[in-house]
Amino acid sequence: MCMFLLYKAPKSHKPNDTSILHTTPLTPYTMVADQNPVAVVMIPLPLQGHLNQLLHLSRLIATHKVPVHFVCTTTHGRQVKLRVQGWDPNTISTIHFHDLPIPPFACPPPNPNSTNKFPSHLQPLCEAATNLRGPVASLLHKLSPTARRLVIIHDSLMSSVVQDFVSLPNAESYTFHSVSAFSIALYISEKVGEQIRKLIKPNGITKISLSFEGCFTPEFKQFISVQHEYAKLSSGRIYNTCRIIEQPILELLESEARSANKLLWALGPFNPLESKRFGSKLPKKDGGPVDRCLNWLDKQASNSVIFVSFGTTTSFSQQQVNEIATGLEKSEHKFVWVVRDADKGDVFSDNNNNIIRVELPKGYEDRVKDQGLVVREWAPQLDILAHPSIGGFMSHCGWNSCIESMSMGVPIAAWPMHSDQPNNAVLVTEVLKTGVLVKDWCQREEVVVAAAVEKAVRRLMGTNEGAEMRRRAVALGTNVRKYVLDGGVTQTELGKFIAHITR
Ligand SMILES: *[C@@H]1O[C@H](CO)[C@@H](O)[C@H](O)[C@H]1NC(C)=O
Repeated sequence: MCMFLLYKAPKSHKPNDTSILHTTPLTPYTMVADQNPVAVVMIPLPLQGHLNQLLHLSRLIATHKVPVHFVCTTTHGRQVKLRVQGWDPNTISTIHFHDLPIPPFACPPPNPNSTNKFPSHLQPLCEAATNLRGPVASLLHKLSPTARRLVIIHDSLMSSVVQDFVSLPNAESYTFHSVSAFSIALYISEKVGEQIRKLIKPNGITKISLSFEGCFTPEFKQFISVQHEYAKLSSGRIYNTCRIIEQPILELLESEARSANKLLWALGPFNPLESKRFGSKLPKKDGGPVDRCLNWLDKQASNSVIFVSFGTTTSFSQQQVNEIATGLEKSEHKFVWVVRDADKGDVFSDNNNNIIRVELPKGYEDRVKDQGLVVREWAPQLDILAHPSIGGFMSHCGWNSCIESMSMGVPIAAWPMHSDQPNNAVLVTEVLKTGVLVKDWCQREEVVVAAAVEKAVRRLMGTNEGAEMRRRAVALGTNVRKYVLDGGVTQTELGKFIAHITR
């Protein structure tokens, strides 16, 4: 339901008509305004890894009895609600979903044969999403009188969409970064990047890129730079990270922020932390693929299984799929492998005729059935990582995956593909020392052969070195939980953020 229908904003208001914004009397809404010191409007980029984070943040903010308006297109609202884990968005009445229209956009399939793994097939969606500017301006205008202050939290890549908030007398915006502070620090400022290079020991780093070479297409770099221009309008930045993970980096960013008179908040991890691994109960399951996975894991020994999944933006060539299959089998370690193609711009646009089914070598699934579980559906990643049988995660190092893995105390076999992922891999392997590399970034265009997959799995799952990384990962997870639980540093910081926006 579109919440703004509840508010009696005059129909004549148009987003570009700023004169109306200034002359609209606020008196008729005084009672509502008394009830709500603040309303929060969330504007995510409509890609899974971004949508998911702001939906989780909506839950955290809603627990402080602040109304949250979550804004995206119909299809992406449906997508994120269907895939979220650990709680049910439909049960929280203070989160209001707004489905706003965008023009039709090209929805090509990903190209599995491309040596550059950047998901350029999603660029048309990102471009189309910038057309939310008009509908968002209109929504902000309608919500503005319902609260004393209107707080907009927007993905850093949706900054242009919210720009019209400046004409509202009671609105302010905060830029949300869906990637690590480490990555942002390297991206936004040469000076900070240089400090980071000094901060982390150069041991091993020389082999790995700490730049963004080969991480984006030129077209997407252009998109980022346009969006980042508008981020200047915001009053501060919010990170989905935890101070126990990135404190030195956050301190660098904080001193940058202070000099620009902006605020910075580290409020993560946003994902729920209920976990069998840490002895707490998990919510009831669905009886479908989630149960199939978890029942299989229940039968395995503690820390004996590696979870293998490369996120929603990776497509592999047939040759690469075959090499992974062979490598996992030869490692002789147990595994859960999510075999999926990358999301298209509209994940519901597939009919049965054009679903790309990733093929495994003939007879493979049957042959490995005692060793591994192949999952083709949407996998319950958070529940899998939370399971005590999981002892490692082979990952593309998207930030959601990294922070979920860290909060569940699972070490990573890092195989970055694009964007911030190569830098996240450095953070995991070189800074936190809770993981190994499957593939060096300078070999990014090469196929990873079965022997390399086998070697990384054996190193993480079957050596003392791997066990040491697991101990560090578990300790990190325990600390993250301490930070996020009641009375912890992160809880206090969230409390301060809420106090700030309700001031
Ligand atoms: C990828 O390459 C394989 C092998 O050369 C070919 O059969 C397939 O059609 C290609 N797929 C695409 C989408 O280009």
